[in-house]
Amino acid sequence: MAHYRIKDESLAHTGKKKIDWAEEHMPVLVSLRDKYRHKKPLDGIRISGCLHVTKETGVLIRTLKSSGAELSWSGCNPLSTQDDVAASIAIDEGISVYASRGVSTDQYYEDINSAMKIRPNITIDDGADLTVEIHKSINDFKSALYGGTEETTTGVIRLRALQKLGKLMYPIIAVNDAETKHDFDNVYGTGQSALDGIIRATNILFSGKNVIVAGYGHVGKGISKNAAGLGANVTVTEVDPISALKAKLDGFSVTTMKHASSFGDVFITTTGCKDVIGSEAIGELKDGAILANAGHFNVEIAVSELERRSVNKVQVNENILQYDLNHRKVYLIGEGRLVNLVAADGHPSEVMDMSFANQFFSVLKLAESKGSLQPMVYDIPREQDQEIALAKLKSMNIDIDTLTQEQEAYLNGFSQGT
Ligand SMILES: NC(=O)c1ccc[n+]([C@@H]2O[C@H](COP(=O)([O-])OP(=O)(O)OC[C@H]3O[C@@H](n4cnc5c(N)ncnc54)[C@H](O)[C@@H]3O)[C@@H](O)[C@H]2O)c1
Repeated sequence: MAHYRIKDESLAHTGKKKIDWAEEHMPVLVSLRDKYRHKKPLDGIRISGCLHVTKETGVLIRTLKSSGAELSWSGCNPLSTQDDVAASIAIDEGISVYASRGVSTDQYYEDINSAMKIRPNITIDDGADLTVEIHKSINDFKSALYGGTEETTTGVIRLRALQKLGKLMYPIIAVNDAETKHDFDNVYGTGQSALDGIIRATNILFSGKNVIVAGYGHVGKGISKNAAGLGANVTVTEVDPISALKAKLDGFSVTTMKHASSFGDVFITTTGCKDVIGSEAIGELKDGAILANAGHFNVEIAVSELERRSVNKVQVNENILQYDLNHRKVYLIGEGRLVNLVAADGHPSEVMDMSFANQFFSVLKLAESKGSLQPMVYDIPREQDQEIALAKLKSMNIDIDTLTQEQEAYLNGFSQGT
């Protein structure tokens, strides 16, 4: 009998239909489920998961369960849980899930700790909060732990930092670093869903707006391209000269945040860095500016500075908070948390298909390792990326060419020149 903490059991029916819908759009993950459901390679394996509780995560959970795993789950952001999906995971799937939308920070960590009680062999994390929490009492967990996976850029950065200090205590597979993850999920997934979140919250017309995108990495690129596609004038801010140059040559204006803050209509942060829209920029914002964040944590927009300067606040709707700053109104979407998950449904299922196929393969690898891997951050093998990309193409009925023996020898050789 599963223990759980969810908002409302009666939402399970709607949640189940949402997961069924996602499943229709995740052919690679579903084919892996079909392949492994009789072999049960995860029999006897306990997994604690800390991923956004969305319909796509529901499909991953069904897949892990059908391969034999025992699961316990929490959300990885206080505002991203879809309560109907959480209900279906608990009631229909019989999984211990501890998550609801709108939890306090204390409740958030209590939920993670509840999901850890299973004493996992494997952790699945997004942002590294679960992994860091396990490290706080590592001696209670170490004997059972085979390893963990990490879903996002910021989580991988945190765990590599832990490794550099010599304090990473168990092996982690960096799912984010798979090409079939970051070149698709971060770019096309966030590129679409972040704008979806802003549009659902505000219903503004992007066409003709000055949109400022902070950061031109994977997420920033996708958002910039799609905002431009909607007719916005996109300006990028960066700290890395190479990324800034790419933005310029991709056709966007590039400037500093200080300069951009005076003319931007909509700001979207995508950096994984803190105080990107900080005190100085907030001082310059024009009346009516809209602020949203697509980076992992709610540190990119200095919300404390908005709070400090505001003379009045109005909750315009569930996801828009209006700050009145001496003769200017500034609108913050979704408390400065991941706008695509707070104000929309997160990434489209089609890209999560590849991200979660990478998660599934990584979990299989950790289960097979039985704890024999050294505590370090591991990359995804190239062959896994290729296999997932090929399976995705196949699901789209797309064939590609293969190298002839002669071509392969030519590409790997040195002798043939001019
Ligand atoms: N919303 C989502 O669903 C979602 C999905 C994937 C990744 N993410 C998160 O989005 C963030 C970015 O991920 P990514 O894969 O694009 O990372 P990335 O490393 O590819 O890109 C980040 C970019 O931000 C730039 N940057 C850093 N600090 C800056 C600053 N102060 N001002 C301007 N630019 C700055 C960097 O130079 C880099 O080009 C991370 O926090 C990641 O975890 C969110």
